[in-house]
Amino acid sequence: MSAELKIAPFTIPLQEVPTTASIAASTPEHSAAEKRAIIAEIKAELERQDAVLVAHYYTSADIQQVAEETGGYISDSLDMARFGNEHPATTLVVAGVRFMGETAKILNPEKRVLMPELKAECSLDLGCPADEFSAFCDEHPDRTIVVYANTSAEVKARADYVVTSSIAVKLIDHLAGEGHKILWAPDKHLGSYIQKVTDADMLLWNGSCVVHDEFKSRAVGNLLQQYPDAAVLVHPESPEAMLQLATVIGSTTQLIKAAQTLPNKHLIVATDNGIFYKMQKAAPDKILIEAPTGGVGATCRSCAHCPWMAMNSLDNLLSTLKKGNNEIHVDEEIRLKALRSTQRMLDFANTLEAE
Ligand code: 13P
Ligand code: SF4
Repeated sequence: MSAELKIAPFTIPLQEVPTTASIAASTPEHSAAEKRAIIAEIKAELERQDAVLVAHYYTSADIQQVAEETGGYISDSLDMARFGNEHPATTLVVAGVRFMGETAKILNPEKRVLMPELKAECSLDLGCPADEFSAFCDEHPDRTIVVYANTSAEVKARADYVVTSSIAVKLIDHLAGEGHKILWAPDKHLGSYIQKVTDADMLLWNGSCVVHDEFKSRAVGNLLQQYPDAAVLVHPESPEAMLQLATVIGSTTQLIKAAQTLPNKHLIVATDNGIFYKMQKAAPDKILIEAPTGGVGATCRSCAHCPWMAMNSLDNLLSTLKKGNNEIHVDEEIRLKALRSTQRMLDFANTLEAE
């Protein structure tokens, strides 16, 4: 059974995607002493406001360090959702992209959810507008709708199941085993990878990640000639030619675990380079090599660092804590519907752990 690729009517015009270089250029630089002072203020505000910082691996090393030093958490999108759900703090400060803050709010309506920057989007989310997606679902009433966590609350509300990359293959394998035909959105690369592994009947939305789309398989092939002993770690949002070169394909947490356990000294890493902070700590003896992209001067918009993740800085983290702005709100009717599909993801993840 081969997956049908539905070509969505929407693509994001590239000129509307901020470049990581432009975000970096507009982020204030600080001396070491200034940085220490900002971090001290952030720590004091977190404590004063009974708040906990939940950060994604792709945020800056500074932000990840603050999370580590304040009892916060750094992880992939599944475990960010679980941690926020289980932690007793009354405020969750989510450093990442918008869908991560929305997921936290969907699961924790009683908590205040703040984000350093509400404009931190995701190309997968932007490339899957709720109305068009809903119409697409209406055309295929016989299919079970499974969406990636990188979607809006409205899209999650239309779905039967939400998944993250860490459990997508297992959930779809399970559903296919029960005879479900799947409608998958939005990432076509992840969808096509899942289809190959599970042989499920899948119809795919045509979305992609502007960061992972840029990894170049030919350049990785050249690197492998230079480092023939290297293992290649690839996030499944990458194009198929990259997946074919992979030693391990997995979510960000799964790639970090692979870096720890693989015997190879050299690791070529094809995901956002924010992951290097935690990966190097987890595998201090390994030599981590960034998988090549188009390069700053070429077509590269992100150069292996998500422009929206890069919008999170120490400055806007402190500012949102002080002002209490950038709060995430989700319409209650949408939230209740999105909770159903999101809770199913957490329940399924718990059954996997119990196995
Ligand atoms: P993970 O769930 O693997 O952290 O992926 C989230 C993401 O946005 C990757 O680009
Ligand atoms: Fe979205 Fe890609 Fe950024 Fe992840 S790296 S948040 S998938 S744009």
